[in-house]
Amino acid sequence: MSPVVETDVLIVGSGPAGASAALALSTYGVPNIVVTRYASLADTPRAHITNQRTMEVLRDLGVEQDVIAQATGQHLMGNTTFCTSLAGEELGRVRSWGNDPLVQAAHELASPTRMCDMPQHLMEPVLVDAAVARGTSLRFQTEYLSHTQDADGVTVTVRDRLRGDTYEIRAKYLIGADGGRSKVAEDAGLPMGGQMGVAGSINIVFEADLAKYTAHRPSTLYWVLAPGATVGGIGAGLVRCVRPWDEWMIVWGYDVTAGAPDLTTEYAESVVRQLVGDDEIPVTIKSSSAWTVNEMYAETYSNGRVFCAGDATHRHPPSNGLGSNTSIQDSYNLAWKLKLVLDGTAAPKLLDSYTAERAPVGKQVVTRANQSIGETAPIFEALDGLSPQTPEQLWANIAARKDTTEAAEKQRARLREAIAFKVYEFNAHGVDLNQRYASDAIVPDGTPAETFARDPELHHQPTSRPGARIPHAWITSGTRTLSTLDTVGKGRFTLLTGIGGEGWVRAAAAQGTEIATVVVGPGQEYEDPYGDWARLSEISDAGALLVRPDGFVAFRHATATPDAGTLLTDALRQILGHA
Ligand code: FDA
Repeated sequence: MSPVVETDVLIVGSGPAGASAALALSTYGVPNIVVTRYASLADTPRAHITNQRTMEVLRDLGVEQDVIAQATGQHLMGNTTFCTSLAGEELGRVRSWGNDPLVQAAHELASPTRMCDMPQHLMEPVLVDAAVARGTSLRFQTEYLSHTQDADGVTVTVRDRLRGDTYEIRAKYLIGADGGRSKVAEDAGLPMGGQMGVAGSINIVFEADLAKYTAHRPSTLYWVLAPGATVGGIGAGLVRCVRPWDEWMIVWGYDVTAGAPDLTTEYAESVVRQLVGDDEIPVTIKSSSAWTVNEMYAETYSNGRVFCAGDATHRHPPSNGLGSNTSIQDSYNLAWKLKLVLDGTAAPKLLDSYTAERAPVGKQVVTRANQSIGETAPIFEALDGLSPQTPEQLWANIAARKDTTEAAEKQRARLREAIAFKVYEFNAHGVDLNQRYASDAIVPDGTPAETFARDPELHHQPTSRPGARIPHAWITSGTRTLSTLDTVGKGRFTLLTGIGGEGWVRAAAAQGTEIATVVVGPGQEYEDPYGDWARLSEISDAGALLVRPDGFVAFRHATATPDAGTLLTDALRQILGHA
């Protein structure tokens, strides 16, 4: 059987990782095909928290406004509430997702974008529609079965689930974005650490007007401490807002060793009634599904011409809302590299930097998400709620915090502290933005290792060090105000310099690789009226930053130099894998 279909990149999966890989590749003009097993995109909300870095990626890919148009805004996300039920007692709140006034300022300073809540069943169509409009060929009901690779490409066998037959697709590269049970990763033999199926989780999607319990404390998440809720490992039942305030999803644990319960409408409604705490309010169950929480990460993300992205390489609980964010960012890291290798600009060695840069991020995300689960325990401990007990005992413990005794005052303090500590899950700005890459596609500038002035998980620290994303500053061009991030990306390298940097501009123009140049300073194409860029660029006016298509600084030189041409040529040779 000879291959009937050929393409440059075959992508397996149309979830956040696959759809964003397709979008980036089509935006860069790389022919690609997506095959996906089912007849539709995600039909349930699944992942939803969309952080600033992902919004920056989507901004570069031209779909930021499409996402904002459908997402729930940041201002409606921020009162993570702990309670005995929505109608019951409130135990406390955490100002979350950039809604603490200080963190809000940090978000504004860090990025031109805002985080938002974009449920996966709305996100996927935005990504896929734009990808298809730009050239992606999408094949629904087409299942990846196996692959073989040789020196020139990958031959993939797929099954057309409509016709029932199999056929082959020949691609130069294969991306396995086929989720947490990735067959591509398994067939490619990617080494995985960790464990699958550590806890069982049930998602129940339902409609109910819950405005009277939520509109006064708008939030994406309402955590309900209820007897039995610790079973699934998440620590509490979760009522998550899908659409304020009438569409919801409950996440509820089940004992993974006993298997998922029978997900009847009656069962789903009983869970909804328990967590909402109102037997009268009309409820319509839309769907129930069981899934497992995993703790796994791949140590290598590729094998030859096969690359994996998203849950195929990192599987973890939803804590910190990192699942689809990390998946989209994986694909964004990979797409420009594939483009430059396919058009001959870069050597295949550039692709080695994908694992070097993204595997540490995947490992960090899996670790952070699991740590966040453990950090819920002190809330239960403060209520003596961890040991097996009857509902009556738990309610009595919760009521005891209202007593006038010294013990009750201590309990109140413990509970406040335990809830406040959850900022590491709900306000971890540093986890979202402090990624640093070390690989052959980054040229260190010889400055001492970075030290973080504040907790790097909580606080974003901007820097123009090679390996960090370019800092955001508002600059102007004529009457237009734009972010420094808006000057980079679009699938090409960018060199930023200032007055006195003509040598760098000439050096950039002399390279065989396309490099956009951005000169910032009085009377230049771009100006820095607030002086923010002068402070954040960490170079003198005549120095230079070479920024990769994904917005990460690849090379930095603090001053003008007669060697600009040689330095830039050598740096690019290394970055592009020619050295
Ligand atoms: P994703 O799983 O989204 O996509 C995989 C794609 O591959 C799908 O399009 C699938 O059809 C396709 N595919 C798989 N095998 C294939 C094959 N052999 N051939 C062809 N196509 C194939 N996260 C969170 O933060 N909060 C939450 O509440 C939830 N809830 C949740 C519920 C359920 C049911 C699931 C499955 C997952 C979650 N998640 C979640 C996790 C979150 O959805 C996840 O992190 C991201 O979707 C990861 O995106 P990917 O694109 O990597 O995989």
